[in-house]
Amino acid sequence: MNVMHVESYEQMSRIAANIIWAQIVLKPECVLGLATGSTPVGIYKRLVELHRNGELDFSRATTVNLDEYCGLDGGHPQSYRFFMNRQLFDHVNIEKARTHMPDGVAADPQTECRRYDVLIQSLGGIDLQLLGIGHNGHIGFNEPGAEFCIPTHVVELTPSTIKANSRFFASDEEVPKRAITMGMGAIMAARKVVLAVSGADKRDILEKALYGPVTPQIPASLLQLHPDLTVVCCVG
Ligand code: F6R
Repeated sequence: MNVMHVESYEQMSRIAANIIWAQIVLKPECVLGLATGSTPVGIYKRLVELHRNGELDFSRATTVNLDEYCGLDGGHPQSYRFFMNRQLFDHVNIEKARTHMPDGVAADPQTECRRYDVLIQSLGGIDLQLLGIGHNGHIGFNEPGAEFCIPTHVVELTPSTIKANSRFFASDEEVPKRAITMGMGAIMAARKVVLAVSGADKRDILEKALYGPVTPQIPASLLQLHPDLTVVCCVG
């Protein structure tokens, strides 16, 4: 595991974007696993800049996102599809058909979960997975629990996650209570994992995840066992 402590959010964003840039340059037809939330906004901004400068070509890349809220379609401003389009996909030369997310409004969420795992397998797995971490140690929406959940699955969001995500909604009540998330299997099978972490409020959970016991109570702790994990963090 390679842990880089950096000074600022901007530095974290530049370094994580550079790693993604290198991945695309080295393997233009790569599969990128992407995350949403506040943390990667600066990373996507930097990737858009690199693309605009003519230094980054997304035309052969494919993306798979970690998660999507149940009940929100891609036109909903708080859906993760909407977020990804606005932050990244609308501004770079990636075909939308090559940008994949779980379908939050699929008629049968369980079938959708199986479809998503088959899709990731059919793409040959993920070359580089970008992650953020929740205050409770979740990655994607793999919430703390009695065991690590391996396949893509429907998850009941914990009260702390609903609270944290309510900042994007008018009230807690509007935050969807369920989501579809990639499981720990596809994340751990990614050939490279980049965990970006920003803010002093994440310092304790990051410490526990990286140096504490590997436990499903802190899903991110499983990353200790990943053979190619880079952590880029500015946690004060
Ligand atoms: C979202 C996701 C989540 C976030 C985490 C941190 O796709 O995978 O695990 O990375 O909740 O969110 P922020 O970056 O908003 O603190």
